[in-house]
Amino acid sequence: MQMLNKRSSDKQKPIDAQEMHEKFGEQFQSSISLARFTSARIGGVADGLLTANSVADLVSMVTYLWEEGMPFIILGGGSNVLVSDAGVRGLVLLNKAHEVKFDEGTDPPKVWAASGANFGLIARQAGTRGLGGLEWASGIPGTVGGAVIGNAGAHGGAVAENLLVAEILHREIEDKTSKNGNPPGMLIRRENWTNEQLGFSYRSSLIKERVLEAGHTGEETESGRSQGKQPSIVILAAKLQLAYSKRETVEALIEEYRSYRRKTQPAGASMGSMFKNPPGGTAGRLIDEAGLKSIRVGDAAISSMHGNFFINYGNATAADVLDLINLSKSVVASKFGIDLELEIELIGAW
Ligand code: EPU
Repeated sequence: MQMLNKRSSDKQKPIDAQEMHEKFGEQFQSSISLARFTSARIGGVADGLLTANSVADLVSMVTYLWEEGMPFIILGGGSNVLVSDAGVRGLVLLNKAHEVKFDEGTDPPKVWAASGANFGLIARQAGTRGLGGLEWASGIPGTVGGAVIGNAGAHGGAVAENLLVAEILHREIEDKTSKNGNPPGMLIRRENWTNEQLGFSYRSSLIKERVLEAGHTGEETESGRSQGKQPSIVILAAKLQLAYSKRETVEALIEEYRSYRRKTQPAGASMGSMFKNPPGGTAGRLIDEAGLKSIRVGDAAISSMHGNFFINYGNATAADVLDLINLSKSVVASKFGIDLELEIELIGAW
């Protein structure tokens, strides 16, 4: 798909709740707390929330927001993010596009999944069909899109090893000089990006790197995590490689991983691993050896079970969690000379 779209103006358009209701019905809600859309149950209010239930919704909603010049942030499973207490000024696009299609007629077998589908669920559904290859992902709480952006991994596996292609909606603004006096148009393309184009690295991808860079410098972002911006790349779906196996074999491995996690990872509301493992070490062990386990700020605490999990015991705020993040970083830096790098993303107005 390639289309040259209208571009209203360079000015950012604020949310007009009535217009959004008319256009999207109940899929638009205004002034919604984001806490319940996150696994940590933390986060302030977004000015507006737009829910996409399918890839078709994603395409039409993102196209509309791009054309209208409305800033937005995409939220998937909310499992790898810390949303600020001040919330998000502007629109959050909640990705619940959940279509999944297994392709068992090929070698290797494959699965195509919309970016809002639950990644762990796909791994378990593959298992019931006797398809393996994604067992490592069975306990991953987030969405396919989030897993692709962050090159999610566990138990020695990672997205980069399974991903065949990601379907992307890509916006480019025409070169201003290319038209004779006309305002520049916008090119929206549906593209297939290969593993190489996504530029995977440990718990990261080219898309995520650009987000973080933009977050630090406040410049234009490709994925729109900073406020008042628009992402120019949206992941619509991913095709992943599986392997023929037996249902019992796949389910036994899934159970083995599950029981390892039950023994090593706490069950409470959290963001999963807070920090990336530094080269040659593990974040959990460093925080543990720094004596920081069980430390509490407000209702947020570093788990007594695993140093890289920060738990919300009820009414933790993002500020409480940020205090624990900063404390861990500074104690680990002074004791071991290691800079811990966040695995999670900070979202919203800080
Ligand atoms: N350890 C400690 N103290 C702690 C925690 C861990 O000494 O408080 C030690 C463990 O005994 C073990 C080592 O550190 O020897 C590594 O711990 P673990 O096996 O739990 O793995 P991890 O490196 O902490 C990684 C992923 C998890 C994934 C598990 C299982 C990262 C940052 N984390 O954790 O991923 O579930 O392996 O494969 O890569 C996530 O990314 O959100 C996540 C949960």
